[in-house]
Amino acid sequence: GQQTGWMTSMTDITEPNRIREQLSASYERFTTVLEALDASVSVAPLGSEELLFANKLYRLWFGSQTAGHLGLVAQAGVPTKPPTDESMDEVDSFVGLPTDALTSTRSENAEIFVPELGKWLEVRSRYLNWVDGRLAQMVIATDITPRRQAEEMSAAQAERAQSASRLITMGEMASSVAHELNQPLTAINNYCNGMVSRIKGKQINEEDLLKALEKTAHQAQRAGQIIQRIRSFVKRSEPNRTLSDVAEMVSEAVELAEIELRRRNVRLSHYVAARLPKVMVDPILIEQVLVNLMKNAAESIDHAQRPTARRSVELRVIPRQVDEQPVIEFSVLDSGAGLAPEVMDRLYEAFFSTKVEGMGIGLNLCRTIVESHQGRMQAENLMNGTEVVGCRFSFWIPLSHSSGLLPLAGAETKSPGVHA
Ligand SMILES: Nc1ncnc2c1ncn2[C@@H]1O[C@H](COP(=O)(O)OP(=O)(O)OP(=O)(O)O)[C@@H](O)[C@H]1O
Ligand SMILES: [Mg+2]
Repeated sequence: GQQTGWMTSMTDITEPNRIREQLSASYERFTTVLEALDASVSVAPLGSEELLFANKLYRLWFGSQTAGHLGLVAQAGVPTKPPTDESMDEVDSFVGLPTDALTSTRSENAEIFVPELGKWLEVRSRYLNWVDGRLAQMVIATDITPRRQAEEMSAAQAERAQSASRLITMGEMASSVAHELNQPLTAINNYCNGMVSRIKGKQINEEDLLKALEKTAHQAQRAGQIIQRIRSFVKRSEPNRTLSDVAEMVSEAVELAEIELRRRNVRLSHYVAARLPKVMVDPILIEQVLVNLMKNAAESIDHAQRPTARRSVELRVIPRQVDEQPVIEFSVLDSGAGLAPEVMDRLYEAFFSTKVEGMGIGLNLCRTIVESHQGRMQAENLMNGTEVVGCRFSFWIPLSHSSGLLPLAGAETKSPGVHA
């Protein structure tokens, strides 16, 4: 054998080396990202105890066993969508860049509590084809305990705020009841004092005594009704309506207000349009509104220290149209000091009062009652040129369909019940 030549075999390994380096760099990036992720990531084949992949947080939470992975799947449920080739491709295409795939919204989400960890976890899972072609399930769990705690805290705060507002309503209710009870209690006191002095002076016969006693009993009964009506009204915020006679309500309210007006030396006249239809209202509550307005009117006149000739209040009740809807309008006009702009803005505020002995609950309750009857209330100054000569509080209540016919035009009565 003679050597005839050399056979050389040279392979260029630059390219495979570059690819290997790239692959290993890519793998390193991949694992670095997965390891640093503040979510636990695990992959296990379907129907097997084998754990194909687990990142650092998974190992920290669940150790190196598949139990944690299976527990999460069991608690969070599995994706209802069966894996399609398309969704597999999508997962595969993300291999180099796992973070996007991990937060992909295409996966199923569930929020579960894991007692062993004492944590709330948001769990997403999806199917993927493992490198060896097996169908596997990837589970990503994120700790959402801080978010959950914040949510629970704000829910608890909302609950506390709610009960605080219920307490305010209770406070207002108690004030309203106390406020409204003053009227019948004053009346009872008045009747009793009157009877005592007339009996002492031997100026009373049995018939008058009986009448006064009946009036006293009526006021006591009214006091009871007020408590009951305001209580149930505040509780349900729906008035207890009956078809009520306007003239009757007015005379009941006038009788109550008279005591206050007489004490302040204020005249009261009232005018009620004739043949007004009955209205669907809670008469006790509407009467209380009228009494409150007349009382405020008298107090304003007293406060303005008007001379005798200018100490009068007028109550007017007329039918009207508001937005083509028939209503009954009640207005109380006084010759008092009127309303300063800063008072006008706060009239209906609970506990706002410019009076030394005022509770500031009267108008607040009035407006609540009127609006619960689907009515509206308003206040305006009465002017004589540029001079404020008093004010007018008015409110209207819509006539419901059941309340009957509107009055005939021109048929009116005037009842100038004047008291000095
Ligand atoms: N007719 C009026 N003329 C002038 N100011 C009025 C009149 N009515 C109400 N006001 C003003 O509105 C405020 C609030 O009235 P509101 O009836 O709610 O409370 P109050 O009369 O002060 O106290 P209370 O709760 O005992 O009725 C009054 O303090 C007063 O300043
Ligand atoms: Mg008042």
